[in-house]
Amino acid sequence: MPDKPLIAITGASSGIGEAVARAFSRAGHPLLLIARRLDRLEALGLPNALLKKADVRDRAALAAAVGEAEARFGPVDMMFANAGIARLGDIARQAPEEWDEMIDINTKGAMNSVHAVLSGMIGRKHGTLVMMSSIAGRKVYPDHTVYCGTKFFVHAVSESLREYLAPHDVRVIVVSPRHYRYGSAGSCEGRDDARQLQGEQSGDRRRHFRRRRRRSHPRRLSAAAASDRPGNRHHADPTEILTQRSRRRRDGRPERRME
Ligand SMILES: NC(=O)c1ccc[n+]([C@@H]2O[C@H](COP(=O)([O-])OP(=O)(O)OC[C@H]3O[C@@H](n4cnc5c(N)ncnc54)[C@H](OP(=O)(O)O)[C@@H]3O)[C@@H](O)[C@H]2O)c1
Repeated sequence: MPDKPLIAITGASSGIGEAVARAFSRAGHPLLLIARRLDRLEALGLPNALLKKADVRDRAALAAAVGEAEARFGPVDMMFANAGIARLGDIARQAPEEWDEMIDINTKGAMNSVHAVLSGMIGRKHGTLVMMSSIAGRKVYPDHTVYCGTKFFVHAVSESLREYLAPHDVRVIVVSPRHYRYGSAGSCEGRDDARQLQGEQSGDRRRHFRRRRRRSHPRRLSAAAASDRPGNRHHADPTEILTQRSRRRRDGRPERRME
């Protein structure tokens, strides 16, 4: 059995979840990988990984998956509540069924992922919850109406969880990327931005976004989550890594201007 602790990741079958799964696997951690597309999880071919076909809307299935993984690898050290979808569009024309799907997966699914590990972490006085939000959880966009709502929800519950869990020595980290090249067709946030970056923007702006993407690379996020540095406990927030600009605003420093 690997000597490193168990990492659970929802939405590990593609995109950011897949990249984070690979990063933790390279670092020698056993994994619990959850998604609906089992074939995609199997195709990753990662060692010491329990692969579970489950929908994050199914609270009982998540709890069962965590139970099975813990029996095999020991307690979950980190839950990355990453599974999510973005159905963007004009709110007046968007089918309400798309709202339902986003709300159920992005908000209730995230809470179900937390629920599956919460009492264990509190009991052990140890663990990390990594909550996948988005820049759309801090800032609104007109064609992201419900998606923004779901990601603001993730921010709000994470802030509350952080306060609640600090005395229990359980960390809460919120990740808030902007557009990311890992996004698939189902999670299309920022595809237009990405196209713009490739085609229309100046070299300086491209370099700026390239730097931002490097800062929010899954390797850096996983390193931040795995770190036990005292300063990183309870109040660690990789969004700080992502959004230097908001840190400047918070500290009342002038914004750095891009040329
Ligand atoms: N890409 C970006 O630019 C960006 C920016 C900010 C935030 N985010 C957030 O990052 C997260 C990952 O997005 P991504 O870009 O990596 O997208 P992605 O490639 O589409 O991955 C989404 C993952 O979530 C899983 N998933 C979706 N619905 C699920 C459900 N009901 N039950 C279980 N798993 C489910 C998918 O697996 P299955 O389909 O196999 O179930 C897939 O593994 C999302 O929460 C997204 O909102 C993305």
